[in-house]
Amino acid sequence: MANDRVRKVTHIDNIKLSEDGTSIIIIDQTKLPNQVEYIELRTAQDVWDAIHLLKVRGAPAIGIAAGYAMYILAQQIKTDDYRTFYNEFHRQAEYLNSSRPTAVNLSWALKRMEKVVTGHKDLPVAEIIGLLEKECHAIHEEDIAMCRAISEYGLSLIKEGDGILTHCNAGPLATSRYGTGQGPLFLAAEKGMKIRVFADETRPLLQGARLTSYELYNAGVDVTLICDNMASLVMKNGWVQACFVGCDRVAANGDAANKIGTSGVAILARHYGIPFYVLGPTSTIDMNCKSGDDIKIELRDPDEIKEMFYEKPVALKEVKCYNPSFDVTDHELITAIITEKGICRPPYTDSLAALFK
Ligand code: MRU
Repeated sequence: MANDRVRKVTHIDNIKLSEDGTSIIIIDQTKLPNQVEYIELRTAQDVWDAIHLLKVRGAPAIGIAAGYAMYILAQQIKTDDYRTFYNEFHRQAEYLNSSRPTAVNLSWALKRMEKVVTGHKDLPVAEIIGLLEKECHAIHEEDIAMCRAISEYGLSLIKEGDGILTHCNAGPLATSRYGTGQGPLFLAAEKGMKIRVFADETRPLLQGARLTSYELYNAGVDVTLICDNMASLVMKNGWVQACFVGCDRVAANGDAANKIGTSGVAILARHYGIPFYVLGPTSTIDMNCKSGDDIKIELRDPDEIKEMFYEKPVALKEVKCYNPSFDVTDHELITAIITEKGICRPPYTDSLAALFK
């Protein structure tokens, strides 16, 4: 029975191709938890908007959507001439890449799709499109396997009865199947382990409240929603034995960008002597960034803070707001980085580099 509840949450089709393969069907994450609504994306503008407005969000999910997007857009380029095809393909990829800057999975997936095109210059365009179809499915299939492996490694760090604090949403909606930052929690539930989870609400866009507590509750996990500013008290009370979070881009030295507020959780965890784990696939590690200083942080609309989830604005229109979407957790605060290839420990310059040898 417990397994059924977990499976129902982890095996959702959050992103898929339509049956005829000409559009993408996604769950609109902005409507959750009140409405489960599937929407269809047909054009580059549809996909750009869906990523930018967080209808599809979470680093791996953005990468998967981008892979499918380049396949559907490739079919819309009506030419047999390779050069014309490539130029238009490249233009569309650049456009999608401008939708959000921080999660590396977006540019990673776009580059991977583009490599299929540039690596087969001599094939007819129709055959290249056939290879693009295989590649976007491969990106998705690989993510399913990576999330499972990350979840298994993460589970090895949890004991029966543990309290786990998590920030933002890094579960099935943000990835594929089990998730990354929250993957071990679903796996623990599936194996009948009793744990309790504290989910930060994650201001300002409330991914923790709207998505994480929704997914964990539906999977039968003992989850308690807290405001972000309650994490310190919950830790002081001795209720948290480990923190698990996802990531959007990890630099070569282990500095990890994740949802705004993550670095504060890591600082608190260090103060209270609680291990702080970052979980993500190797596609989220960007060896071209030497440190977190090289990671571009997305700045979003101030109205998300003042208006988005309120009946009336909570501050004067004239009041300035600063709304960075991510922050970077210093590698010194991270106990381990868990990937599908294993658990990396400090020094990360060595352990992360070893993943790519
Ligand atoms: O702005 P979002 O909701 O896309 O931010 C998402 C996060 O920060 C997640 O924690 C991260 O992408 C990891 S998802 C597996």
